[in-house]
Amino acid sequence: MTKHLISSADLSRAEVEDILETAASMHDLQRREVKKVPTLRGRTVINFFFEDSTRTRSSFEIAGKWMSADTINLSAKGSSTSKGESLRDTAMTVDAMAVDALVIRHNASGACQQVAQWVRCSVINAGDGTHEHPTQALLDAYTLRTRLGDLDGKHVVIVGDLTHSRVFRSNVITLKTLGARVTVVAPPTLMPSGIGAWSAADGFATSWDLDPVLDGEGEHGPVDAVMMLRVQRERMSGGYFPTAREYTVGYGLTRDRLERLVARNDDVLVLHPGPMNRGLEIAPEAADAPQSVVLDQVSAGVAVRMAVLYHLLAGDDTPAPVPPVTATEGAVR
Ligand code: CP
Repeated sequence: MTKHLISSADLSRAEVEDILETAASMHDLQRREVKKVPTLRGRTVINFFFEDSTRTRSSFEIAGKWMSADTINLSAKGSSTSKGESLRDTAMTVDAMAVDALVIRHNASGACQQVAQWVRCSVINAGDGTHEHPTQALLDAYTLRTRLGDLDGKHVVIVGDLTHSRVFRSNVITLKTLGARVTVVAPPTLMPSGIGAWSAADGFATSWDLDPVLDGEGEHGPVDAVMMLRVQRERMSGGYFPTAREYTVGYGLTRDRLERLVARNDDVLVLHPGPMNRGLEIAPEAADAPQSVVLDQVSAGVAVRMAVLYHLLAGDDTPAPVPPVTATEGAVR
């Protein structure tokens, strides 16, 4: 595996599968009473979040702690960034403390790539602007594989605010790497420019019309999973759709749409990376449906981020990711 994880395109199929297999053993650890292994003892990980986060920041922190790494959290507010220190100076300052990894979330697309050129430590992209969110794509793939098995030929529909979504970009890459077919659906105003070039790729389709795709009448036929994306109002400067109500009517996973989906395939999966705008892109009935794996995604986030840290930071002297459970430890669930 490469030194950094900046883009989902950094990972070959074999590397994605390796990470997901390691994540499965990490997930076993989550079910133990004592959630601690010595795997990354002596390593230091800094989580530097220039943008807000609940899931990604806390799961990276938990992942590091459960593997005995020393983890430190920094945010723009409370660091010298608020005094005007540049990203370059901040990154080089932290790197000079001999840390092993810098996990970065930033509102500028490409920020992580830039930081990787300035530092000696590993850089992990925890979401950069509208560019990519590779660990989200890995945890989504983990969640899908847990329920659907091998993703070769499986049909995943990604719906919503594609223009502002780093989750969509990373997911398309990782899902295609694993052989899935992907249809992306958005209103014309939220369909990224240049997506026509992507459409030429095998197993990738676009649509402005959600219902025929959900009904299995699109290019890729019946649907195995639907991933709803958040409408990112904080990144919108203009009117991308007339009203919230009209967005929901056209592109929301409403109760009616869920019922039609389930009538066709009882095992269909509903994903959302979070945070959800309940009632806008996803109805509460869909978010909380038996088909929803939203909380499975959150749980997978810890295991997958442990696996990523392990693959980037483990050295020749590093023990196996998760030692066998001891008689006194037991499993709690
Ligand atoms: N999915 C995701 O990145 O969530 P957070 O913004 O809460 O980290």
